[in-house]
Amino acid sequence: MERKTTQISQAEVERQLTLCDDICRVTGQWADKPLALVDTYGCQQNEADSERIRGYLERMGFGFTDDPEQARIIVINTCAIREHAEQRVLGNVGALVHTKRRHPEQLICLCGCMVQEKHVAEKIRQSYRHVDLVFGPHALWKFPEMVHTLLTQRGRIFSVADEAGSIAEGIPTVRQDGIKAWVSIMYGCNNFCTYCIVPYVRGRERSRTIADIAAEAENMAASGTKEIMLLGQNVNSFGLGSENGETFPQLLHALDGVVPRIRFMTSHPKDLSDALIEEMAHSKSVCPQFHLPVQSGSDRILQEMNRHYTREHYLERVRALRSAIPNVGLTTDIIAGFPGETDAEFEDTLSLVEQVRYDSAYTFIYSPRQGTRAAAMENQVDEAIKHERLSRLIALQEGITKEQLTGCIGRTEDVLVEGASRRQAGFVSGRTGRGMMVNFEGNEEWIGQIVPVQITGSGTNTLRGIRK
Ligand code: SAH
Ligand code: SF4
Ligand code: F3S
Repeated sequence: MERKTTQISQAEVERQLTLCDDICRVTGQWADKPLALVDTYGCQQNEADSERIRGYLERMGFGFTDDPEQARIIVINTCAIREHAEQRVLGNVGALVHTKRRHPEQLICLCGCMVQEKHVAEKIRQSYRHVDLVFGPHALWKFPEMVHTLLTQRGRIFSVADEAGSIAEGIPTVRQDGIKAWVSIMYGCNNFCTYCIVPYVRGRERSRTIADIAAEAENMAASGTKEIMLLGQNVNSFGLGSENGETFPQLLHALDGVVPRIRFMTSHPKDLSDALIEEMAHSKSVCPQFHLPVQSGSDRILQEMNRHYTREHYLERVRALRSAIPNVGLTTDIIAGFPGETDAEFEDTLSLVEQVRYDSAYTFIYSPRQGTRAAAMENQVDEAIKHERLSRLIALQEGITKEQLTGCIGRTEDVLVEGASRRQAGFVSGRTGRGMMVNFEGNEEWIGQIVPVQITGSGTNTLRGIRK
C-alpha cells in the first residue's frame, strides 16, 4: 500500500464543523444538556488529541462529566506503549457493559493508539460488542461524521485502516488548563526503535508548518496561555522531508517571545544538533530543560534497540548542552530488561545514570509489543530479573533527584504559578524554568504570573521557597 501523508483540506474540516452544528441542533432539542466523558491514557500526544475531541464535542452541544452514568457519549482515548496500559483500558471498557445496559442510548467510543493495532480492533469487534465506535489516530479529524452516522442510524463503525496519516488544521479544542497548553507540531515516527509500537500505530512522521503553529501559539497567548509544550515523538526531525525545508531551531526562533515559556519533547539523541543547542541558549522563552531519552547505557543494547547512537555520543551531547546552557535540567526515559540485556549491560545503564545525574527519569520494564522486532527476539529477560533491575534503577535515581533538588537551595528562581497547593492552604505551587515543582506561601491571584522565589528547602520530588 502506498503510504503518503494527506493534508486534510480546509473544506473537509469545514464539513466536519457543519456536521457538528447539525448534531448541535438535534442535541439542543433534548430535554437535558447532553454530557460527554473523555478519558485519556498514554502520553501528551493523546492528551492533545483529547483536547480536539472535546473541542468537537463542545461544538456538538455537549457539556462534560466524569461520571459514566451521566454520559450520553463516552470516549476512551487509549495507549499501546506497554501491556499494562492495554490491560487497564480493556478492564475499564469491559466494565462499561453494565453502564450501557442501564443506558442503552449511550454511545461508547474507543480511539487512540491501541485500537490501531489490528489484533486489538478484532478483539473489540468480537468480544466488546457494547462498543459502538472505534477509530485510530488517523481518523480523529472525522470524528463528527462518525458520531453523526451513529446518531442517525444504529450499527457500529470501525475506522482503523492502516494509513500513513494525515494533518488537519482548524479543529477546535477545549483545553484542560488555561495557563499551560500542549501543541502538537508533528505526528508519527520514522525511527522504528525495535521495542516500540508507536511507528506502527501513529504512521509516518509529518510536520505542521511554522506558520500554522505560530498562528496557534499567538491565539493561545492572546487568551492567556503562559507556557506551551511543543509535542512530537522526535522534535529534532521537525520539518525533515517536508517541501519547505523548515527546521526545529527555526520553529523555536519563530516562537520566541510569543509566550513567556516554551518547552518541548521528545528529543532523539541521534538528531540533537548544535544549531538547536545554540537556539535554546539564546532564546528568551525556551526553558532550560531537556528531555533526552537514553533508554540504555550499553552500546550493544542501544544497537539492538536501533537507536543509532552510542553511549559516548550521548554523553558528548550532554556535555554540549551543559556547557551552552548552565543550570539546564536533564530528564530521560530508560528501559530495564530489554531482550538479551545481561547484568553487566544493565550495570552500564546504572553507571550512565550516575554519570549524567538527571533531575528525574521515567523508568520502564521492557514490555513486548506484538509486531515489533524486539518482541520476536528469543532471549527475553525473566520477569523477576526485570523487576529487580527496575527497583535498583529507581532507587539510584531517587537519590540523585534528591541531591539535584537540594542543590537548588539558596538560588532564586523564576516560578510560573500554576495553582493553589494541593497539600497546604495558603500555599501556591508552580515550576522553575528547569522544571522543578516549588511550593510557597502565596496568593491565588498570582496564578498565571511568573514570580521570583528563593528556594529554602527540598523534599523527595519538590522544592519549598519564599517569594522575594
Ligand atoms: N519518542 C520518544 C518516546 C516515546 S514512548 C522517544 O523516542 O524517546 C515513551 C517511552 O516509553 C520511551 O522513551 C521508552 O522508554 C518507553 N517504551 C516504549 N516502548 C516500550 C516498551 N515496549 N516497553 C517498555 N518501555 C517502552
Ligand atoms: Fe518509539 Fe523510538 Fe519513535 Fe520514540 S523514536 S516513538 S521510542 S520508535
Ligand atoms: Fe501511548 Fe500512543 Fe503516546 S502508544 S505513549 S498514546 S503515542
